[in-house]
Amino acid sequence: MAPHEHHAHPTDAFEGPEEVARVVADGEIALGFVREVVEAVLDLDRGPVRSVLDIGSGPGVATVELARLLPGATVLALDASGSMTEAVRERAATAGAADRVDARQSEIPDGLDELSDVDLVWASMSLHHVGDEVAALRGVRDTLSRHGIVAILEFGDQRRLLPPGDDELADRVEAAYREFFEAQQHHWHGDTPSGELTDMVEQAGLTVLDDHVSVITHRPPLDEAQRRYVTGSLVRARRQLEGHLARRDLRALDRLADDPDRPDAPVVVSRRIVLASR
Ligand SMILES: C[S@@+](CC[C@H](N)C(=O)[O-])C[C@H]1O[C@@H](n2cnc3c(N)ncnc32)[C@H](O)[C@@H]1O
Repeated sequence: MAPHEHHAHPTDAFEGPEEVARVVADGEIALGFVREVVEAVLDLDRGPVRSVLDIGSGPGVATVELARLLPGATVLALDASGSMTEAVRERAATAGAADRVDARQSEIPDGLDELSDVDLVWASMSLHHVGDEVAALRGVRDTLSRHGIVAILEFGDQRRLLPPGDDELADRVEAAYREFFEAQQHHWHGDTPSGELTDMVEQAGLTVLDDHVSVITHRPPLDEAQRRYVTGSLVRARRQLEGHLARRDLRALDRLADDPDRPDAPVVVSRRIVLASR
């Protein structure tokens, strides 16, 4: 299991409107990965994609994009958070996709055994929150149709988003994040230690078809939503890096988050993408 902050219950962190807004911003900045992966899955030419399962869907940014890109498919979003599943329903209705998008509150692996014949399982930035990933992946494998594919998106390379002009601060933030992630490894949820991603995929009886890191760069000028994403990320970095970064650098993050005239920097987001079949 990978890095996140520690909460009494694994998904308490994902309740409430502020969390929904934050995960919407995260999803929108990474929307290009959905198209990339759908194209890769269709290129495999294994058969029609009629049913999609989005596990740990968050507020449904990718869920609704999957429905848009795969007009012949129904998409079921599963998420342990009530706020997130409600947000998926609202987003689907706004996009006019409510007839093909369904959302259920369920803490994976619960709820997987009722599902079958899924052509594409989408698991983006969710697997690392699950206590026993191999058990969850086994549950996922058993939902798949004969030609079904699992697409797992996880942390790629370190992202960059600080404004230009202080590369040393950017380097210190990156180093502090590495330290933060290492410290978080000791606060895993669940009792089952994580393994390397593709090892866990194979332990679950799946075959890895592809494994690569993909990068999206949003270049300045950033639009309003992208600037909001940067502000949100700075506020979160400020909170997460307390104790890992010098006071002076924490104050610099505060100032940047609060500065309406903050110069734009390219926003680089990256995902490790693993495709697997049964
Ligand atoms: C970081 S968000 C990712 C959202 C979205 N998939 C994306 O890529 O932007 C992680 C989501 O996984 C959900 N989650 C965490 N553990 C879960 C579990 N065991 N079962 C179902 N959902 C879970 C959380 O509630 C949260 O909405």
